[in-house]
Amino acid sequence: MEIVNTAYMTPSDSVDFCGACHGTSWDIALSGSTGVENVRFPAYRLQKSRCWRTGDSRLVCAAYHDPHQPLASDAAVYDAKCLTCHVSAGGKVTTDHPGSPCKIGTKNCAGCHMPKYELREMHSKYTDHYIRIVSDPSIFPDGLPDMRRPASDSSRPAEPVAHP
Ligand code: HEC
Ligand code: HEC
Ligand code: HEC
Repeated sequence: MEIVNTAYMTPSDSVDFCGACHGTSWDIALSGSTGVENVRFPAYRLQKSRCWRTGDSRLVCAAYHDPHQPLASDAAVYDAKCLTCHVSAGGKVTTDHPGSPCKIGTKNCAGCHMPKYELREMHSKYTDHYIRIVSDPSIFPDGLPDMRRPASDSSRPAEPVAHP
């Protein structure tokens, strides 16, 4: 079996790699799938986030999840990752920390910014990986992210293409 190390990939390719099974924006564009069911496509949801923009290795799936380990349930583990880009309350944004501070909370960031949705037929809750300010958690925002590639990455078409 071929062993793949996502550390050698660009951030976009790395998330697309995990998304091959866990759902990318391309899958959603091609299938036209809408609604809360799409919460099961974490790669697509993440790519919608303002945090993602054109991709940053601090935000790729493998920075948060080790596919060989059970899911971490401790919010503090994830908080430290958010704070690799976001400055703490009162701080100033820098080139290295481009994420603004939160006026509301200092811990359990994902608890407020990544709500969970229950899918009736699955009997389990899924965390929405679209990181955002949530005004009404009962609303599930649809829509595709801007899927244009950064100029440095010309290996993929700029617009979704239909399968032949
Ligand atoms: C070849 C398909 C495939 C690829 C590629 C893949 N996964 Fe998975 N992954 C699965 C399947 C199947 C499951 C188990 C079913 C499920 O939980 O969706 C799973 C489960 C997981 C879970 C546990 C989910 C839970 O709720 O317990 C995590 C976390 C995860 N994968 C992360 C990753 C990451 C990170 C990558 C990229 C480095 C990746 N996966 C690439 C198929 C894949
Ligand atoms: C790769 C760097 C990076 C990481 C990691 C990151 N963010 Fe961000 N995030 C940003 C940038 C850049 C913005 C846009 C500027 C701003 O509003 O701070 C942003 C915006 C946001 C916003 C405002 C969204 C909006 O719609 O206005 C929230 C909320 C947020 N991030 C929360 C989080 C949380 C929670 C985590 C951890 C799960 C996280 N971020 C991880 C870079 C990052
Ligand atoms: C108790 C819920 C809660 C927690 C916990 C929380 N936030 Fe927030 N956050 C909010 C709300 C609500 C807003 C919108 C505030 C507003 O519009 O004035 C917000 C706004 C933001 C913004 C946008 C700031 C701006 O000025 O545009 C960012 C970025 C952010 N949070 C990141 C984080 C990070 C990183 C953490 C963890 C260290 C965190 N949040 C913890 C509820 C929370």
